[in-house]
Amino acid sequence: MSKTAVIYYSKYGTTRRYAEWIASELEAELFDARKFKKKDLSRFDTIVYGGGIYAGGIKGIELITKNWYKGLSEKRVIVFAVGITVESEACREQCLEVNFEKRFVTDAAEDAGRDSGQFALGELLKEKRMPIRCFFLPGAFDPGQIRGMDKAIMAVTRKMIGSGAQGDSVDGAIAKYMQQGCDLVDRAAIAQVVEAAME
Ligand SMILES: Cc1cc2nc3c(=O)[nH]c(=O)nc-3n(C[C@H](O)[C@H](O)[C@H](O)COP(=O)(O)O)c2cc1C
Repeated sequence: MSKTAVIYYSKYGTTRRYAEWIASELEAELFDARKFKKKDLSRFDTIVYGGGIYAGGIKGIELITKNWYKGLSEKRVIVFAVGITVESEACREQCLEVNFEKRFVTDAAEDAGRDSGQFALGELLKEKRMPIRCFFLPGAFDPGQIRGMDKAIMAVTRKMIGSGAQGDSVDGAIAKYMQQGCDLVDRAAIAQVVEAAME
């Protein structure tokens, strides 16, 4: 029988909630990424990885990108990213760029090369973006809850995404979420991830 792991990295609990729902639907083993040992990746045929989005980066995504050419590319791998800007296509595209573009292809290939020497970097770079399936799920944000460095990171994120003042209605909504907080979590949104993991 096919074995599935759902691994999550969650700072405030939203991604964990989604991961619990997904694991329960898939009857998969559930792990906190902070306690997961990468050598255990080999035990599974399907890996579902979820991380909260922070300043465009998917928390802990290196577990996937760094191990892509060390066996993960041969498995079924599904990523889900949880954030409050995921309604915006531009933000989704930016997130894919930040997490899966050239730099990661190079890093991963160089790393794999150190172990086995079997990957041709030039060939890999033609891909430009790591071919990892990534779904976006709506998150939650409570300005009253954020701690330490996250305050500064949120300020950077606001600048990165823009104030929304001159933007379209999606930008305006995001600017409001960032100022006032929001809870966009929707259990129904897991369907796309569950389906992809079972394909
Ligand atoms: C410091 C900070 C930066 C954030 N940056 C982004 C971002 O770049 N894009 C986004 O969609 N959401 C961003 N968010 C919102 C989080 O992704 C959202 O709150 C998510 O639900 C967090 O998931 P978690 O609690 O599982 O870590 C940010 C939140 C914080 C606190």
